[in-house]
Amino acid sequence: MHKSIIIANWKLNPGTASEARLLFSAVKKGVAGIRNAEVVVCPPFVYLPALSEIRRAASLGAQDCFWEDKGAYTGEVSSSMLKEFGVTHVIVGHSERRNWLGETDEMIARKIKAVLKEKLTPVLCVGERERDSSGDIPAIVEEQICTALSGLKKGEFKNGIIAYEPVWAIGTGRPDTPDDAARAAIFIRKIVKKVLGKTAGEGVRIIYGGSVNAKNAASFISKDIRGMEGMLVGGASLKADEFVQIVKSISEI
Ligand code: 13P
Repeated sequence: MHKSIIIANWKLNPGTASEARLLFSAVKKGVAGIRNAEVVVCPPFVYLPALSEIRRAASLGAQDCFWEDKGAYTGEVSSSMLKEFGVTHVIVGHSERRNWLGETDEMIARKIKAVLKEKLTPVLCVGERERDSSGDIPAIVEEQICTALSGLKKGEFKNGIIAYEPVWAIGTGRPDTPDDAARAAIFIRKIVKKVLGKTAGEGVRIIYGGSVNAKNAASFISKDIRGMEGMLVGGASLKADEFVQIVKSISEI
């Protein structure tokens, strides 16, 4: 059994480097004694150098990367650059990037390869825009995973993470139900097995994101079945106390 992993996605927050330091220090202090949960904080790129100097109890992640190492790609940041600042995890394919910046599954596939090449952990985000009344996990999720993982060798991605983040649950205060999220985790693991084989399918960690808070976080972690094994937290990760509560509630399961 893996340790649960809780990843903070700060998105385009906070507004200043000093606020970022304060928030990170408070999270670090709050989670310092917790052994059975892993914590990763993903700030905006520009805060990484400062936070890499004070990291310890929490690991550092990035919210995106480009697929090339260097070259004429204005505005981009590569996974090798991120690695130099102690980044261990890279979020790839967040729905906000798909939506605002037109990121496609093909671009996401190239980014995943770049992250794996640096031996960093990719956190692939998938999720449907709307759930129909049948409650089934829509085919789009399978499509997103199959394309994003295409071209990888069997067994590759065995240390990867897939974050199931239904778009309708992000920032809306309307999370998925724990039962449906668990069904999504089982469905996603099956797809990874189909695409990359048993080793990758068993190894991959599947986590939930979308309106997670201190009250509901623990309900998504299944004790009896291999369902969700962590969280990707947006809004609630900007409040140190609440984020620490989330980590504590999951570590106590
Ligand atoms: P919220 O937790 O604010 O719903 O955001 C989820 C998310 O997008 C994390 O990546």
